Amino acid sequence: MSVASHDNRKQYGTNERLAARARLVTKYTISDIGWFPWIAGQLPLDPGASILDVGCGPGWFWSSAMERLPKDIDLTLTDLSEGMVREALERCTSLPFTSVKGKPADAATLPFAAGTFDGVIAMHMLYHVSDAAKAIAEMHRVLKPGGFLAVTTNGMGDMKTMYEIATVLGSPPYNPTAAIFGFDQANTMLKAQFDNVRMAQHPARLRVTDPEDVFLALTSYPPGDTASEAELSALRGEISRAFAAGNGVLDMEKQFGLFISVKKDG
Ligand SMILES: C[S@@+](CC[C@H](N)C(=O)[O-])C[C@H]1O[C@@H](n2cnc3c(N)ncnc32)[C@H](O)[C@@H]1O
Repeated sequence: MSVASHDNRKQYGTNERLAARARLVTKYTISDIGWFPWIAGQLPLDPGASILDVGCGPGWFWSSAMERLPKDIDLTLTDLSEGMVREALERCTSLPFTSVKGKPADAATLPFAAGTFDGVIAMHMLYHVSDAAKAIAEMHRVLKPGGFLAVTTNGMGDMKTMYEIATVLGSPPYNPTAAIFGFDQANTMLKAQFDNVRMAQHPARLRVTDPEDVFLALTSYPPGDTASEAELSALRGEISRAFAAGNGVLDMEKQFGLFISVKKDG
């Protein structure tokens, strides 16, 4: 089993672990526009659209990007984790969309009829799915002709310095999710099922100033989440060295990409 997909339920039973990684990104990203508002500005959302969010997590996208989204959309939230769906519904039902509903669902077997949605969104989740091509086929199936699929994922150069620190735990020197479903895999798999695929990268860097946030992020997923005391102390040592080398700052490129694919019309 891959590093990123290892024990998904443990990672995402609640949002606590996801929050440690998300905090690093939300707190330290340097960009003219935040990730979620940037995504919202790229989505081809027509008024009255019915949208399915696959692997919605706690629904942060919808609450954070509300200002930039049309309000007259029908939103369906799904996630493998019941806890995530519950939290996403709690967060999103009060938003002024036409309708918001949700249910647990596996991306590999979406419980919706063919041609149901105008848009499907799968953000930072396909590296968790054991057969990403099958999940993409499911997303393609539930789209109406002319509908769009928006997929986001990480590139191999994402937060490189931080992943180099994680080698002390035996991790590879890159974001493990990008090795499973990074820009190259997304491009190839999406083009295998959609004619029209375009990619854009969020222009952003990270300037991390608190070493503890790096420690919390790296211990929120395997193997850091089960590291021994000796390994954790070695990790703290590497983090301190990296911050000292950067004069108290960890400055690194963030590689988050968005792929928008359109289902053939007719
Ligand atoms: C990194 S989080 C992303 C959450 C949200 N899309 C976002 O971008 O903020 C990945 C989510 O995918 C969900 N997930 C993992 N495997 C899944 C599957 N096979 N089907 C549906 N959701 C899945 C996890 O439970 C988790 O909520």
